[in-house]
Amino acid sequence: MSVHVVRHPLVQHKLGVMRQHDISTKNFRELASELARLLTYEATKDLETEPETVQGWSGSVQVERIKGKKVTVVPILRAGLGMLDGVLDMIPGAKVSVIGIYRDEETLDPVRYYVKIAGNIEQRMALILDPMLATGGTLLATIDLLKEAGCRKIKGVFLVAAPEGLERVEKAHPDVEIYLASVDERLNAQGYILPGLGDAGDKIFGTK
Ligand code: URA
Repeated sequence: MSVHVVRHPLVQHKLGVMRQHDISTKNFRELASELARLLTYEATKDLETEPETVQGWSGSVQVERIKGKKVTVVPILRAGLGMLDGVLDMIPGAKVSVIGIYRDEETLDPVRYYVKIAGNIEQRMALILDPMLATGGTLLATIDLLKEAGCRKIKGVFLVAAPEGLERVEKAHPDVEIYLASVDERLNAQGYILPGLGDAGDKIFGTK
């Protein structure tokens, strides 16, 4: 797996503002969306293009168009939804595949409760969205599900990751590329990333 930490000043500045403990729901939500846009710009830099001739103001002109079936965006419920509009601002034609997975409290196994994957998945690059890559359990289950469905190219876009989660995903899926704003220090005993952002879902949705 290759991990791309995007060190652009705008990305790092916005992440720094998100870490402030008294940030409002409005600001947190807006910044999650802005960071999603900036990280998507990086994550899509190898999309293939093909030349096309269009009629411009001064006659015909050759332009570049993104080739083939393009992208499906896969927000992991619930917090991944906070990045969806930012990504769709950048890739308005992307199909959205929704996967809902929760962890059984007794067995700790991931349980799929909702799956709706875009058609022609084998021809699309999947861009998984989640603000936090913590233990990696949900991400692993999502990647497994996409691969079972026939998806051949998968990337993940996150704001912050824990080294433990990254390592787990790297071992199981070395072909998946990860784009993020920061690899933080570690997980705490409750599975939260330190220093992290706290509960990103609660902060995006204004719950708790
Ligand atoms: N999910 C969150 O929202 N925050 C963490 O730190 C870990 C998982």
